Order: sequence, then structure tokens, then C-alpha cells
Amino acid sequence: MPIPERGRPWPEIAAEMEAARARDLDWRRGRHGAYVWYASDELEHVLRDAFGMFLVENGLGIRVFPSLARMEADVLESVAALLGGGPETPGIFTSGGTESIFLAVYAMREWARASRPGLERPAVVAPHSAHPALNKAAHYLGLDVRRVPVGPDYRADPAAIAAAVDARTVGLYASAPAYSLGVIDPIADLARLAADRGLWLHVDACVGGILGPFVRDLGYPVPPFAFECEGVTSVSADLHKSGFAAKPASALLFRSEAHREFARYTFDDWPSGTYSGLTFTGTRPGGAIAAAWAAFQFLGREGYRGLAAASMRARAAIEAGLRERIPGLRIHGEPPLYAFAWAAEGVSMGRVAAAMAREGWVAGRTTAPDGIHVMATPVHERYAADYAGAAARAVEAARSGDSTGTARAAYN
Ligand SMILES: Cc1ncc(COP(=O)(O)O)c(C=O)c1O
Repeated sequence: MPIPERGRPWPEIAAEMEAARARDLDWRRGRHGAYVWYASDELEHVLRDAFGMFLVENGLGIRVFPSLARMEADVLESVAALLGGGPETPGIFTSGGTESIFLAVYAMREWARASRPGLERPAVVAPHSAHPALNKAAHYLGLDVRRVPVGPDYRADPAAIAAAVDARTVGLYASAPAYSLGVIDPIADLARLAADRGLWLHVDACVGGILGPFVRDLGYPVPPFAFECEGVTSVSADLHKSGFAAKPASALLFRSEAHREFARYTFDDWPSGTYSGLTFTGTRPGGAIAAAWAAFQFLGREGYRGLAAASMRARAAIEAGLRERIPGLRIHGEPPLYAFAWAAEGVSMGRVAAAMAREGWVAGRTTAPDGIHVMATPVHERYAADYAGAAARAVEAARSGDSTGTARAAYN
């Protein structure tokens, strides 16, 4: 579509955009199992206003926007406090989990190169459950990833990880929780291993980093997974996921200032002087920083505890509905937070997911083991019974052979 010769009135454009949404995922009615973290209409308005206030400002020129510099520092300090760090725990405000993981792998590589000059092709050891962002980063940065089978509980197996470490290994990678099954890797054990072997350990807490500590505060058994564990070097926690902030926003935190410095890139052989920074992106949306700051201030710890409680109630309601309506239901492993995956005995979950999709549900598949992924958020509480009903009908149809087609396991 070419740019029109003459501009059109905004109401006409807005109406067209609204109409274009008609076939989009119905996330306001909890039909999503991924992509969207939605807390409430009230918070949505705050995020829109805060983002809009700083729509034009650019996080690249943070020197000339002390407002953004302050909000960014405040957000990172708040996240550090949630993750067992302190005011001295340094961080980087990034555009999302993928950039946070990219920068963690980059810093890990530079750190290793500084102390092991002859190192040719560094490697990272990770459980099979690690998010693909790890491989994406390693691919761009010239590292190998060794994915090791998980244990019978679907969590990283520290003995298998230890056995995969060799002379080329510079770091370990673990998740809190892993996206697919929602299980938290044994971070304390892996941190000890990393410390013993002189390795960097990155914890991908993109899903659990902000809300996980509040779930723990409510009394649920959530093990320490961040800087409380000596030997954890960096942690990524996405503000635009369980922080319920606006996209794009994530926090990457480091054990020390010296570790963070390895994420820096500096260049000055061009006509405009020194270009030096800690992010992969150049221009950065001021609105995302402002919205994350506003979310923390608007919700407060009390608000996050409320969202944690609602997410856990949503998970419990979905799980209870599934157990009640689907004979032979299984939850994979012991996921302690709001993400989990389920399966029904004797039926292909690809068929079940395809049948659910026909009713408008995003039912992301897991393949190891076969299952359907659920990321319960507060909005899902109200629609838990609808979800369980659709799931039960889909299982029934798949079992009786009435359902045709299989949903491919595809993450995006
Ligand atoms: C565990 C985990 N790590 C990393 C990512 C990547 O985050 P993003 O999509 O924000 O780049 C995701 C996304 O779902 C994730 O679940």
C-alpha cells in the first residue's frame, strides 16, 4: 500500500485500524497462552499515558534526558532488590528477553576472553529446555551451545551439565522458569558448579524475574533463583512479561560493575567522536522506560502481590477445571509458578491444540514431552472454566477421531 498522496483524518484512520483488529487474538478474554501480559484496564491507561508522555524522548541520548536516566536507574534498582541484589547491583535496561540474553552471552564471552586469551570458540552449557534466544545470541556471537538432556523432573540435571563442561566452556545457562514447562532449574546447585569451575552463570528469569519473588512472598514454595545464590553472575527479568509493563522492556542485572562492563561496546573511528554504550540497540524508546517506572509506582509491592495471587489463582482454576473434566490428565513436572504444561493420556496433543485453535484459543504445544503450554495471568482467572471446557471438548474430539488436523509446534 503506497503512502496516500494526501493525509486522512485520524478518526477515519483509527476506525480502519480498529476494524483491522477483528480477527486478532482475543487476549482481553484470555484466549492467549503467550505474547500478552495484561493486568487491568486501569494499568493499561497508566502505561499508555506514561508511554505517551515520553513518546518522543530517546534513551540513546540519556545524557540529555536526566528524567529517563533517573527512571531507568530506579527501575533497575527495584529489580535488583527483588532478585537478591542491592543498590550496588548494576543493570542494563533492554528491549526484551532476547536483547538481555544477547548481552549476557556477549559479556560472558568478553569476560572469558579477558582471562583466557587463547580461547578460540567458546561454548555455553545449558539444559535442553533453554529458550532459543540463547542459541540466537550464540549464533550471532560465535559461541557453541551444548544442550544437555534434562532430568526426570524436566529440570536441568546438574550432574549432566557438569559432565558436559570442557576446556572450551565459558558459562552455564539456566531458567527460572523455563518457558515450555514452567519448571525452575536447580539454580543453587548450578551456581555452586559455576563457582567451582570458574564459569559465568546466566539465569534466564525472563518469565519469573519480577512476579516470582511476589509469589514467594505469598507463601508458595519458590526456591531462590537469583543473586541469593553465590555463583549466579547475571539475571534477565522481563519487565514486559511478569512486570506487566509496556513492551519493549527487560532488565539485565550483573553480580558486579566489573561484570557489567564486559557488555560495553565502544567505537570512535568516525567523524562524531566516542560511541559507547551497554545496549545492543541504538535509539531506545523513552516511553518504555517511563511506562516501566510508572507501573512500579502505580502498582506498588501491594499491587504486584495482588497480581501474583491472581496469577496463581488463575493457574489453580485452570488446573482444577482440566482435572475435573479430562480423565487421564497430567501436569508435566512440578512447575512452581504460573506457567505449566498439561497432557491427556493416550491422545496426541497436536490434535487437541488444533481443535482448541478452531475455538479461538492459542494452545502452544510442547514436544518434550508432548503437551499444551499455559501461561496463566490475572485475566485468565475469569476464563478458566471456558478454557477447561474448550480443552475437554478438544480432547474428546481427538480421542474419538472427530478432530482432524494437527497443530504444528511453533513458538511464533
Ligand atoms: C524464558 C524466556 N526467555 C527469553 C524469552 C525471550 O523474550 P523476548 O521475546 O522478550 O525477547 C522468552 C520469551 O517468551 C522466555 O519465555
